[in-house]
Amino acid sequence: MHPVIQVSGVRKTYGSNVAVDEVSFEVNDGEIFGLIGPNGAGKTTTMECIEGLRTPDRGAISVLGLDPFRDVYKLQNRIGVQLQQAQLQKRIKVWEAIDLWALLYGKQATDGERLLEQLGLADKRNAWFMTLSGGQKQRLFIALALINDPEVVFLDELTTGLDPQARRAIWDLVRGIRERGKTVFLTTHLMEEAERLCDRVAIIEHGRIIDIDRPQSLVNRHCPDRSVVLASDDPHAAERFRAIPQAETVTCSGTQITIRGRGDDLVTEVIQCISENRIRVTDFRTILPNLEDVFLKLTGHSIRD
Ligand SMILES: Nc1ncnc2c1ncn2[C@@H]1O[C@H](COP(=O)(O)OP(=O)(O)OP(=O)(O)O)[C@@H](O)[C@H]1O
Ligand SMILES: [Mg+2]
Repeated sequence: MHPVIQVSGVRKTYGSNVAVDEVSFEVNDGEIFGLIGPNGAGKTTTMECIEGLRTPDRGAISVLGLDPFRDVYKLQNRIGVQLQQAQLQKRIKVWEAIDLWALLYGKQATDGERLLEQLGLADKRNAWFMTLSGGQKQRLFIALALINDPEVVFLDELTTGLDPQARRAIWDLVRGIRERGKTVFLTTHLMEEAERLCDRVAIIEHGRIIDIDRPQSLVNRHCPDRSVVLASDDPHAAERFRAIPQAETVTCSGTQITIRGRGDDLVTEVIQCISENRIRVTDFRTILPNLEDVFLKLTGHSIRD
């Protein structure tokens, strides 16, 4: 694994407000890396320090072996940036913005047409920026971030304000960027997005990184609990389930039985128990923990609080 972004001991304060503190991590070549955390956690600050748009008070940052502040011009050609908050002139047309950006990088405008097509903006190519919906503006900014075919792409809250269908299209697009061998660094406060899209995530809260790993590894490490919830009117069912070695608790509420335990074998064992004892079951579902639960476990509150 070869790191393309290296962040070490970064701290950034605004007056007396410590926005980012002692942040260190590496992003490897060809991965989708997500910085996840609630509003105000320090995601944008961290990302914009890496992009060279803000200067950290202390710490070291390197992107593609370059210093984002000192080598800003060299780096600009090799990275693509979508900012969380961006604006264009009200009356610039979509194709004009694409053309202008392509020109800045000396690229062919046909790449821009392809990007508009991919981002579902082809029929808006003649529309003024001010007439685009929030989601369409967002997609235009992603197109502009990709126009120089960058080696590293920075996407700050890439699907905020998008409908579920557009969100999925963007996820596919981001996976496509990775397939072309590029590296993606993104921020999100959507746990589902991080879980489905990111190879690795760093959880940040109050400016500090709490943990970094693959989403599934974080879940397995911090939330190994599994639950099976089923409905049965068999009077002996609960007692049978209590005999399962991996079942830690079995609770009943009317005909509903909840079996809680640890490890991947719990579900199989419950199914075996049902089959061996011929227990009549009228409902069956599993509750598996996700990143949302990891966040709750690590911080004591939900990311949306
Ligand atoms: N330019 C600025 N001047 C002063 N304070 C700032 C500035 N930018 C950010 N902050 C403060 O730094 C902290 C971190 O903000 P930041 O924008 O990095 O958070 P974030 O994780 O990106 O949040 P969000 O999910 O809302 O985008 C917040 O307390 C914020 O008020
Ligand atoms: Mg932000």
